[in-house]
Amino acid sequence: MPKYYGEALTNFVLQNFQTNKIKDLYEQAKRFGYTGTLRSFYAFVKRVTSKTKKIKNPAQEFIDVLKKVKVITVIDLSNKLDCTPQRILDYVEYHRALGYEISIDEQYVIFSKDAVSNGTSFDGPLEDTEIIFAVISDPHFGSKACQITALNTFSEIARKKSVKHIFMPGDITAGLGVYAGQQFDLYGLSSGEQEASVILNLPYGFEWYALGGNHDYSFIKSNGHNALLAIQHHRKDFHYIGFDQADVPILKGVDLKMWHPSGGVPYAVSYRLQKGIEQIAFDELTQVVRGVKDLPTVRFVLAGHLHIQMQALFGSIFGMQCGSFEGQTNYLKKKGLVPAIGGWIVRAELGKHGLLRNFTAKFYVFPEIRDDWKNYNHSLPEKQITEPIFEN
Ligand SMILES: [Fe+2]
Repeated sequence: MPKYYGEALTNFVLQNFQTNKIKDLYEQAKRFGYTGTLRSFYAFVKRVTSKTKKIKNPAQEFIDVLKKVKVITVIDLSNKLDCTPQRILDYVEYHRALGYEISIDEQYVIFSKDAVSNGTSFDGPLEDTEIIFAVISDPHFGSKACQITALNTFSEIARKKSVKHIFMPGDITAGLGVYAGQQFDLYGLSSGEQEASVILNLPYGFEWYALGGNHDYSFIKSNGHNALLAIQHHRKDFHYIGFDQADVPILKGVDLKMWHPSGGVPYAVSYRLQKGIEQIAFDELTQVVRGVKDLPTVRFVLAGHLHIQMQALFGSIFGMQCGSFEGQTNYLKKKGLVPAIGGWIVRAELGKHGLLRNFTAKFYVFPEIRDDWKNYNHSLPEKQITEPIFEN
């Protein structure tokens, strides 16, 4: 049995300090005969490791450099890391899958906390002529008020009604630091914990189309991490389509727009949606006049953010405020607001020029379950990586 004294203890620390907590190393060292206090062990580790230049793996070095310089040419970066430009592309892909907001063109690699990359774009329509879809908005995974039981029950109803596509107009995660004291409303503080909760608890059997909202954006703002990119990497049925506003073609010449507006709930609940749809209509008109589009294509606007529900037809545009799957947080309590917990199932038939012929839109309401998050698992099992992730 080795005794961790002198050189042996030094080697033990050097071999393990980068991958283990000092406290754990201390416990191991004690089991093998180290007799000092935790405090003296800390001092010893500090002394030994300060002389040692940390050995980084190339992927770690890539992200460290990028975080520091933010923008760099592909050539400069490959020279700096002593690797090929192709390897830089591999690193970009690898880190984007982890949720880092990194973009790349022919010349530059860019790491950003402000600009977010576009999500997946869809070439073809999702349905033929009659459409059915469901909407689950603002679940805020990571929030103690997240209503996972309601989400599961609603998904079961949707499944029985042959729904294949579910749209999520924002705030998939609760984020952190969005309002003062938010940390007390969360069961998962980090983006990793909140992502794991989504990955584990989002029901299977659907294609999910997710827009980023202001809560998801908080992780980008604080450390350039896009939680939705990371979730997309783990769940092939989860499609990240962008932030704030994005279109999904659902029929030929018919787009569904998801929108996560900003600001608080106005006195008149339909106000924000009405004004938003007016702007969308003006935008479409401008595009037609400029020749960018032949005809207006937006027929559905799904708005998240306000946690209220209402639906109305605005000319040729079907608009809805989509409710939420988050109950009443301390923030809403302070503001005296009561969220509408539930989701929509929409069945619609479209006629000539993609105009709505008839439709049913039903909102399923659920009672709030206090601390519902405690009924579910939120931790992914740790993955053991045995093979090197990059080839030599
Ligand atoms: Fe929200």
